[in-house]
Amino acid sequence: MSKKTIAVLKGGRSLERNISLKSGARVEKALREMGYSVEGIDVDASLVKRLKELKPDAAFIAMHGRSGEDGTVQELMDILGIPYTGSDVLPSINCMDKVLSKHIFMENGVPTPPFFAFNRDAFQELGAVDTMPIIGDDLGFPIVVKPAAQGSALGIRFAHTGSELPAALISAFSFDNKVLLEKYVKGKELAVSILGKEPRALPVVEVRPKTDFFDFESRYTMGKADYLAPAEIPDDVAAQASELSLRVFKTLGCSGFGRVDIMLGEDGSLQVLEINTIPGFTETSLLPMAANATGISFNELVEEILLCALEG
Ligand SMILES: Nc1ncnc2c1ncn2[C@@H]1O[C@H](COP(=O)(O)OP(=O)(O)O)[C@@H](O)[C@H]1O
Ligand SMILES: [Mg+2]
Repeated sequence: MSKKTIAVLKGGRSLERNISLKSGARVEKALREMGYSVEGIDVDASLVKRLKELKPDAAFIAMHGRSGEDGTVQELMDILGIPYTGSDVLPSINCMDKVLSKHIFMENGVPTPPFFAFNRDAFQELGAVDTMPIIGDDLGFPIVVKPAAQGSALGIRFAHTGSELPAALISAFSFDNKVLLEKYVKGKELAVSILGKEPRALPVVEVRPKTDFFDFESRYTMGKADYLAPAEIPDDVAAQASELSLRVFKTLGCSGFGRVDIMLGEDGSLQVLEINTIPGFTETSLLPMAANATGISFNELVEEILLCALEG
């Protein structure tokens, strides 16, 4: 078999650029070790030109957040006819936008915390600020305020009282034109990674952040969060979480791999927060951890994701 050429797309201008550079570097190393011919591309305006010259057999998209995870790069790969890892354009668009995905969850009976969403115009032109007391009464405090399309917990704030809402909203609006206010779920934080051409759930990972929540710092600093892989939860709850994650992954039309973030409430309910169509591949990332917990090495993980694209 001739050696396949794989373009590893990484970096870009997203706020998660540095994480993506780390993810990309690890993926490149894995692919090289397995004998692929690898070209790492730090994505910029020359991307299309470089890909037209390189004519890779596939693109491994190791980008997170805007442009890389939201369907933009995927659309370009479709136009260029280059097979790529992970989900297609539409699921990428839908999963990147938490407001869109939560509406799809609800339409399909997937439990997700109650929420309200606004765009900037609602505040600037329609007086949305006066709905805050209604929202506070409805959701109760704390309220989790998030930008619709962001990752790595960037821009997320917890408002503990009504008086903290304005600052939380301003913070979220500095990341996106659309924000959501979501009911806080007290409980355990679970992540279910999905892998394969016939998608399967990897062991459930439990995150125990040492900070208030699983924020940017706790994610990417060694020792700032404890990870249990597999999670310390009853077998039937783990089975339910896996089944729910697979269902939501398929409902959104995702493929190849992904990670579903779930809260396990103190009442035992499972509530889906979001699907990440390109979860991290860094040293502290949850997908490689989940794979490792079931005996799949990092290289094997990378190769399985790639084969989904090459054989898709
Ligand atoms: N409704 C919620 N209740 C409790 N904690 C939450 C809630 N939403 C988010 N969080 C916390 O914020 C983190 C990031 O939220 P998430 O919706 O997964 O967005 P991101 O795309 O930034 O990962 C979660 O990992 C969790 O620690
Ligand atoms: Mg998340």
